[in-house]
Amino acid sequence: MESTLELFNQYVVPTYGRFPLVLERGEGCRVWDEAGREYLDFGAGIAVCSVGHSHPRVADAMARQARKLVHTSNLYYTRPQGELAKRLVGYTGHAGKVFFANSGAEANDGLYKLARKFGNEARSPLPRHAAGERLDYAPNRCEILTFDGSFHGRTLGGIAATGQEKVKKGFEPIAAGFRHVPYNDAPELGRCIGPDTVAILMEPIQGEIGVRPATVQFLKAVRQICDDHGLLMMFDEVQCGLGRTGDWCAWKTLAGEGIIPDAVSWAKGIAGGFPLGAFWVRDRTISMKDGSEMSLANLLGPGTHGSTYGGTPLGCTVANEVLSIIEEEGLLANAREIGAYAKAAIEALCSPLIKEVRGVGLMLAFELVADFSERIGDKRAPALALIERLHQAGLLSIPAGTHNVRWLPPLNVSRIEIDRAVAILRAALS
Ligand SMILES: Cc1ncc(COP(=O)(O)O)c(C=O)c1O
Repeated sequence: MESTLELFNQYVVPTYGRFPLVLERGEGCRVWDEAGREYLDFGAGIAVCSVGHSHPRVADAMARQARKLVHTSNLYYTRPQGELAKRLVGYTGHAGKVFFANSGAEANDGLYKLARKFGNEARSPLPRHAAGERLDYAPNRCEILTFDGSFHGRTLGGIAATGQEKVKKGFEPIAAGFRHVPYNDAPELGRCIGPDTVAILMEPIQGEIGVRPATVQFLKAVRQICDDHGLLMMFDEVQCGLGRTGDWCAWKTLAGEGIIPDAVSWAKGIAGGFPLGAFWVRDRTISMKDGSEMSLANLLGPGTHGSTYGGTPLGCTVANEVLSIIEEEGLLANAREIGAYAKAAIEALCSPLIKEVRGVGLMLAFELVADFSERIGDKRAPALALIERLHQAGLLSIPAGTHNVRWLPPLNVSRIEIDRAVAILRAALS
């Protein structure tokens, strides 16, 4: 019989650089490989398994709903989808409506369509006079600004939106309508608004580039710039949202209640590993070209967008259960407290190989020093070299770029598990 690696080598399209681990089962913050070896899982499927592996309540809810109704179609109504939408709207704290998809990239694709429809059908603002200059907005605005270092998914829309050249290489022509601008630089963002700009899409905490939070001032400035120019402010909370930072909304962890976005996308942790994505659109009045007014939340009307699997009764039941567990087991508070504990513990290592520890709640990264490879005499990318050593010692962690290692454990990780992980890290670094 072929080994699992042989099966992959022969039959699976090789898009991923995989670590040589074959994982077979999981429980809480731990997973086991085919040989029965145990690992602490501080990747949690890249910020996905928010209540840990094989949570008995999730397994029961999944099995119960699977016996009742797995799938219908969005031609009909199902109770779990309506209840999940209500719950998500509640988490934002503002009136709005939710669309369900299957992944983060797909949720973001919905946001691009929302922005396009807004640009095509809503009335553009009157010409703006500021600082002695005049800006005439195009009648059909279509440009979405995103940020250098951002990541928004691997679809054609996603790679066009993503502010990293490496995801675009070889896939030209890249879909038009996106421009990347520097992150956390409000004056530059202000200068980049052009006649065609219709929306700004940002991660409140950039994940794939190595956990880089927006500053409060920047978040406020983005909202102000959107208000000044009649743009949609759209947040990609696929990685940072729904509890990871210790709040349902990462932007609130950073900036409190003061900022209201126009749209937000989620996926990853929403259903603890069951594939589901979603986006929320704010209920606010917009003026249309034909002189009428409508709610932004109703702009994507019947026939404008859809997904066969989006919001199945099974997926929504699992998400409702996962989110209930986060509520009932106090996991937002746990993410805040244990996250701060973990961050302080990594900092307390005072390792000469760590340049900086970043992050909020249980979305953490430590950046390795520039000359890490020379210091340890290993030519591989520093993050990979360290992560392999952590694997050998029984700890899964996630690379971000060449120099960052991320810890994104389940939100119910305990202090004892953090202590174990930090001990493994200390030994690996020394
Ligand atoms: C911020 C962000 N947006 C979008 C995505 C894409 O999500 P998915 O892989 O579910 O398509 C990711 C995935 O890492 C992400 O981190």
